[in-house]
Amino acid sequence: MADLKHGTHPIVIEETPGKKAYCQCGWSENLPYCDGSHARMDTGAAPIVCELTEGGKKAICQCHQSANLPWCDGTHSRLA
Ligand code: FES
Repeated sequence: MADLKHGTHPIVIEETPGKKAYCQCGWSENLPYCDGSHARMDTGAAPIVCELTEGGKKAICQCHQSANLPWCDGTHSRLA
């Protein structure tokens, strides 16, 4: 079983509307999206799936500690 891999900053992207699966294990090679690595590596994590009705700039949490996952709420800046 692989440990989760946490980033130190969000990934900021211009997102498009539609169904998205945001990686929560940190091992995806297509961050911030899930590529199935969580299952292949037996991380115990699963992506957060969202249906976005609007596009626009989004900051996607990579520390996985946000209180508003999958979105960044600034928590990464308070972690050691
Ligand atoms: S690859 Fe990380 S949650 Fe799926």
